Amino acid sequence: MELNLPPDYHDILDYVLIEPEALQSRIKELGQEISDHYEGKPGLILVGILKGSTLFLTDLMRQVATPHAIDFMDVSSYGAGVRASDGDVRILMDLHTTIENRHVLIVEDIIDSGHTINKVLRLLDARSPASLQVCALLDKTERREIDVPIAFRGFAIPNVFVFGYGLDIDEYYRNLPFIGVVKPGIVITDSVST
Ligand code: IMP
Ligand code: MG
Repeated sequence: MELNLPPDYHDILDYVLIEPEALQSRIKELGQEISDHYEGKPGLILVGILKGSTLFLTDLMRQVATPHAIDFMDVSSYGAGVRASDGDVRILMDLHTTIENRHVLIVEDIIDSGHTINKVLRLLDARSPASLQVCALLDKTERREIDVPIAFRGFAIPNVFVFGYGLDIDEYYRNLPFIGVVKPGIVITDSVST
């Protein structure tokens, strides 16, 4: 079925994969794990990867007791309308903070092929942080093409295209409080840009 963007999300939602309450309680646990891990390690900085991690980061940081700063990077792995990254990852906006000798925790919405986070890890590692780890809300393990170390992981999910809670379908629906799965066979055309 072909639909113009943005349809009412009910028209494209197959089922809710992760309910708001489950997200929040897992994020609370992650915050505890992160607080324990970084206790006594000064200079923690949470680096959110725009834009998908914004809701996750703002909820997660409220559960992290260790004093920390935040910063953001914007990277693009694929354009609107495309559903897979090809490894050609571009840095669209770099950090504003110097991370040398600081404990850096990258906060990402989802790890799919692994290309995006791999590129970010290599870039930030070259700046000599005291430590560099990844916290990902979602992990689509089946789709991995590059091995990525995930120190803090919210949920392992199957190979389905998800949206909501920061994740978009061609930039829409990031505001939804749950993680939903797109109905199979749905093609959404961007009526704004065509
Ligand atoms: P990777 O480079 O293949 O690991 O892709 C990671 C990026 O692709 C994530 O930061 C997301 O922005 C995007 N992505 C991957 N899977 C999904 C999905 O199911 N829904 C929405 N965005 C996704
Ligand atoms: Mg992303």
